Formats: sequence, structure tokens, C-alpha cells
Amino acid sequence: MSQKMTAAITAVGGWVPEDKLTNADLERMVDTNDEWIVTRTGIKERRILKGEGKGSSDLAAPAVLDLCRKRGIHPAEIDCLICATVTPDMMFPATANIICNKIGAVNAWSFDVGAACSGFLFSLTTAASLIESGRYKKVVLVGADKMSAIVDYTDRTTCVLFGDGAGAVLLEPDDQGYGVLDSLLKVDGSGKDYLYQRAGGSAYPASIETVTRKEHFIYQAGQAVFKFAVKGMADAAYELMERNGLTGDDIAWLVPHQANKRIIDATANRMSLAPEKVMLNIERYGNTTAATIPLCLWDYEKDIRKGDLIVLAAFGGGFTWGATLVRWAYDTAAR
Ligand code: UT7
Repeated sequence: MSQKMTAAITAVGGWVPEDKLTNADLERMVDTNDEWIVTRTGIKERRILKGEGKGSSDLAAPAVLDLCRKRGIHPAEIDCLICATVTPDMMFPATANIICNKIGAVNAWSFDVGAACSGFLFSLTTAASLIESGRYKKVVLVGADKMSAIVDYTDRTTCVLFGDGAGAVLLEPDDQGYGVLDSLLKVDGSGKDYLYQRAGGSAYPASIETVTRKEHFIYQAGQAVFKFAVKGMADAAYELMERNGLTGDDIAWLVPHQANKRIIDATANRMSLAPEKVMLNIERYGNTTAATIPLCLWDYEKDIRKGDLIVLAAFGGGFTWGATLVRWAYDTAAR
């Protein structure tokens, strides 16, 4: 009997800017200190995209080109490109369209997905469905966020948390049981009161007043979001494992959204996972929103083995959260 067609991740790409913003730099900008930031979040430095007119597409384009180079394909072979972002270059057109234009993905259709820190997971399920439908053979999904564009660098409660970066994966059809196996995704719109960028949309268009009131920056009720995030991410990952009859021993890797090391630890504990199975790069990049999960895959790609079962888990603004189960399709060393 032939296997059901699945969407396998067949390549990973990533890109982060060279400029670093360290905890020592932040100590000179706001009333904070390295000890507080490291113990409360796990972050030591972040990358910042500098330059007039540079946006998330400038992070995403090199990440997708990296992926194409590694897989040995030309961007013109991409059928569809999805960009997960909360920091689009402009309100419209979609950043995905701009990325396609920059990299020469001339045969792709494309669109953005806005699900904040769960953007990569939400788009992964969307992209996998396009492959599973049988209509598309090469779907690229890129999580890209220039968080520095919406961070208030006088607000110590948020400016220490976020960084810029992009990570991308290629999905292709597979009939051997590799790829996206299951996902559990949730939203709770009442979360809009806890984590948001208030102005610039249709409800509160940009005005002198919105700028003066700093409403184009991120607002986060940190403690409240923390409580929702610990529960949401851990519950989703655990439920996903349970309904697939898996225990911590069966899982090779947890790829968690990198918002706070304490939230990641709580999720790993709930899954009974040893710390060495948890992908972690928050200390170097901070919270890059839709880019955290693919940037982890990018950093750890050489350590993942063909057949490894991986749980990806996220929690973010919206609220949005969830977990996705993937069976890894290739050995980097064998390529
Ligand atoms: O990715 C999207 C989802 N987002 C998240 O998952 C983030 C969830 N939230 C968090 O990760 C944490 O709540 C934060 C890292 C944002 C904050 O950590 P916390 O342990 O919840 O701290 P807190 O907000 O309860 O603040 C504790 C104290 C306060 O001082 P008082 O009132 O106790 O005197 C803050 O004013 O720490 C103070 N504080 C700081 N001190 C030094 C807040 N920010 C800073 C700072 N440096 N940067």
C-alpha cells in the first residue's frame, strides 16, 4: 500500500545581520543589566539590521537564496513562497512578493502570514497543505522579522528582548513518511490586549498623536504573557505527543520559539525531554519572532539525523500558539 503524501522539509536556509546589540550596549541605553537580562530571559546579544530603507525582505531574501544554494535549485523553480512576519516592509504589498522579486522567483505566487511568534508554525501547516494537495512541488516558507523597526529603545521592558533575522525551509512531496505529520494550532483573540503594536493599522491609522504616544512600538504585558506562554506552549507540545502515542524518549528534538529560556525549560520539562534535545540559540539572537524556529533548524541542521522525530512549538501575540510534529527527511552529512 502506498504511503499518504506528506510535505518533507528538504532544505533549510538562514540569515542574520552582522551588527550585534549586546547586553553591555543596552546597559548604556536603558536602566538594565546583563545579570537581569540573562537570568530572566537567557539573552546575551541580538542582531540588528541597519541601513536606510532596509526591511524584513532584506533579511528574508538571503535566507531563501541560502536555502536554494544548499538544495541546488534556482529560485525560478519555487512554486509558492510564504512569508511569516509581523514587520512587513510595508502595510501592502505583501513582503513575500517583494522577496520573490528580489531573488528572481519569477514562477512563484506568494503571500504573507501574520501570526506573530507562531507565524512559522501556522505557515508550515499552510505550506504542507499546499504540498499534500498535490498541486505544488516546491513551497518555500520564510520567517522574517526586523523587530528593531518596532522596538522602543527607551523601554527596558521590551528593548532587551527582540532581534532581527530570517530563517527559511523548503517543502517538497514525500511518500516515505517523512515531513509534517501532525499539528495542533490555537488562537485566542482576547490576547490582543496583552501584546500588540497599536497604531498604523486601520483602527488607529498613523497620526502625529499616535507617534507622540509611541503607539507604533511593541507593547507587551510581560508577566501576563509569560503565564499564558508557559501553559500554552507546554500544553500544546504535550497534547501533540500524547495524541501521537509518543513519549519524551521518542522525540529527538524540541525546536521551541525563542522568547524566554524559562518558557522553553518549562516546555521541555512537561515533555520529559533531556536538555540536550532542546534547540537553543536565544542567547545569540534574542526573540526574532517568526524567524526563531527556522533559525534554530539552521543552526542545528548538521546535528539532525534522517528519521528524527521533531516537535516544533511556539506561543505568541494574538494569542497564537501550537506544536507541530515533523519526521526529518535527510542527513546533512550525506549530501
Ligand atoms: O514571543 C512572544 C511571546 N512573548 C513572551 O513569551 C514573553 C513572555 N514574558 C517574559 O518573557 C517575561 O515576562 C519578561 C522577560 C518580559 C519579563 O520578565 P519577568 O520575570 O516577568 O519580569 P517582570 O515584568 O515581572 O519585572 C520584574 C522586575 C520589575 O521591577 P519591580 O516592579 O519588581 O521593581 C521590572 O520593572 O524587573 C524590572 N524590569 C527590569 N529590570 C532590569 C523589567 N525589565 C527590566 C530590565 N532590566 N530590562
